[in-house]
Amino acid sequence: MITGSFPIERFNRLDTPFYYYDMSVLHETLRVLRAESANIHVHYAVKACATDAILTTIAQAGIGADCVSGGEVKAAVEAGFPADKIVFAGVAKADKEIRYALEQGIFCFNVESMEELEVISQIASAMGTTARVCLRVNPNVDAHTHDKITTGLSENKFGIPMAFLTDAVTRCYRLPAVSFLGLHFHIGSQITDMTPFVHLAQRINELVATVESLTCTDEHGHTVQACVQHINVGGGLGILYEHPNHFPIPDFKAYFAVWREHLHLRPDQQLHCELGRSIVAQCGNLITRVLYVKKGENKQFAIVDAGMNDLIRPALYGAFHRVENISHPDNEEQLYDIVGPVCESSDVFVENYRIAAVQRGDLLVMRSAGAYGETMASRYNLRRLPGHVIS
Ligand SMILES: Cc1ncc(COP(=O)(O)O)c(C=O)c1O
Repeated sequence: MITGSFPIERFNRLDTPFYYYDMSVLHETLRVLRAESANIHVHYAVKACATDAILTTIAQAGIGADCVSGGEVKAAVEAGFPADKIVFAGVAKADKEIRYALEQGIFCFNVESMEELEVISQIASAMGTTARVCLRVNPNVDAHTHDKITTGLSENKFGIPMAFLTDAVTRCYRLPAVSFLGLHFHIGSQITDMTPFVHLAQRINELVATVESLTCTDEHGHTVQACVQHINVGGGLGILYEHPNHFPIPDFKAYFAVWREHLHLRPDQQLHCELGRSIVAQCGNLITRVLYVKKGENKQFAIVDAGMNDLIRPALYGAFHRVENISHPDNEEQLYDIVGPVCESSDVFVENYRIAAVQRGDLLVMRSAGAYGETMASRYNLRRLPGHVIS
């Protein structure tokens, strides 16, 4: 497929900065994802991009939703995701969020602590209903990604420590308003080498065996054998930020092959995953205009009208986004620091970067910005939110 061409005349009539979503890239990504994920329940991680048109397109593709707040559950329901395909994780769910999700009849809560399990049970009980739960386990598997997006190590705040898992499962069976479905994991994000996922699969096999060896007692005092019916491996598949044109579609084949080969699933067990970035990153771009080309003593700065409030990933994680001059793509290249106008020295998109020479008024595109771009935008410095244009 062809990516990387932009309707520049249309852009020239618009106020910058804004996100531009190329729906043909999203459709193609969803087509490949669906083809590769047969028999696996994919839930889109809404946090990656919650723009209406993106959510409705993904919902229409028949994919479920993974939410981390009541607001995301609401957005997913409104975008048309069926409640029975919505899962709700999040390290600490507020009572009103739990109540709302129960009212909607979501598929399950991914419970992150024993304490939260008790609260969910109390709220479900008071509502006269039962909460379906998976326990989010912290598997202590290193994702070998940026430490700000690593979630599966024992020092991270996420999930139930493995040492408490058997207690948590036993408690699930004992609680009257909770139904135990299985286990949930998420080790981190932007993972491009499949090895951490293989390690996760091996750890899951061990944990499922441990859980299923448990004999529990239900609320009536009856003995029940613990059963893991659902296994949710979370998200994390990365994309190639350096090559949005050559590799616009992530390697879903390799990703799903890991689970098919390394997880020991019985026919009655269901596999779920929660991909975010890999579904939406390459369809989104941040469009910005050069305000000034400023000479420093040793460098030149291209100061653009987008700032870290519009796209925080470079400032927050040192993340890289390819930048292109779409007004004068054929100019000879020069070296720039491309920076924003926000009053923070971390408001830098890229340093010592070669790009077709820019001048005031040129439009630049920051590529691969569909995930954790617009959703993380803020009004810092009382700037306006970036907004978006859909192709
Ligand atoms: C619980 C959970 N699931 C899924 C995801 C999506 O991850 P990614 O966008 O890397 O696929 C996240 C992201 O942080 C998450 O916290």
